Amino acid sequence: MKFITSKRLAAYVAAMIIMAGITLEAIAAEDLQPIGPKLTPRLKQMLSEEMLSVKQAVKMILDGLIVGDHPLVATQAQQIHDSFILARGLTEQDKKDLMKAATPEFLKLDGEFHLTAKKLADSALRKDYELQRFYYSRLVDSCQNCHSQYATDKFPAFSGAQPEGHSH
Ligand code: HEC
Repeated sequence: MKFITSKRLAAYVAAMIIMAGITLEAIAAEDLQPIGPKLTPRLKQMLSEEMLSVKQAVKMILDGLIVGDHPLVATQAQQIHDSFILARGLTEQDKKDLMKAATPEFLKLDGEFHLTAKKLADSALRKDYELQRFYYSRLVDSCQNCHSQYATDKFPAFSGAQPEGHSH
């Protein structure tokens, strides 16, 4: 009896997971609007450079976290915060171009991302390593969250399926 029940439960759980997957896929399909192709070559280049330096900083932050090197974490996290593409080196024309390409949701994610980096830097300055772990994981969340919505052309693994007409 017990065996049947747990099997049923397993089937139920499996069905729920599949249904949740379908729902998520439907939502993802609607929001699948990579921002890269909408950017001017100049903005795309700047974003790419920012991302590569962010990636480098995140690696160094992890190095710092695992040995309790608070100054390293603080410096690198602060650098991510300061690299805010919206605040640095954008001409008036760039800003207009960015506003045309970016949805409010994208700008919100970008803002939250840089704010999280700031909070991570602050918790490192206070030598609060538990809080550093918390904000570090939030930082990684924001990478995945944004990439899975706005960089599926660059990182197709997030989209679960290749867009139509691009299967090669
Ligand atoms: C608000 C959105 C957003 C957030 C947050 C974000 N990214 Fe990105 N990232 C993008 C977009 C959009 C692209 C694709 C740019 C393109 O089309 O060239 C990208 C591309 C990249 C690339 C590839 C760059 C290249 O040109 O090869 C790396 C590496 C990267 N991101 C790292 C990170 C890391 C690490 C984090 C988190 C710590 C992060 N990103 C957070 C939007 C974001």
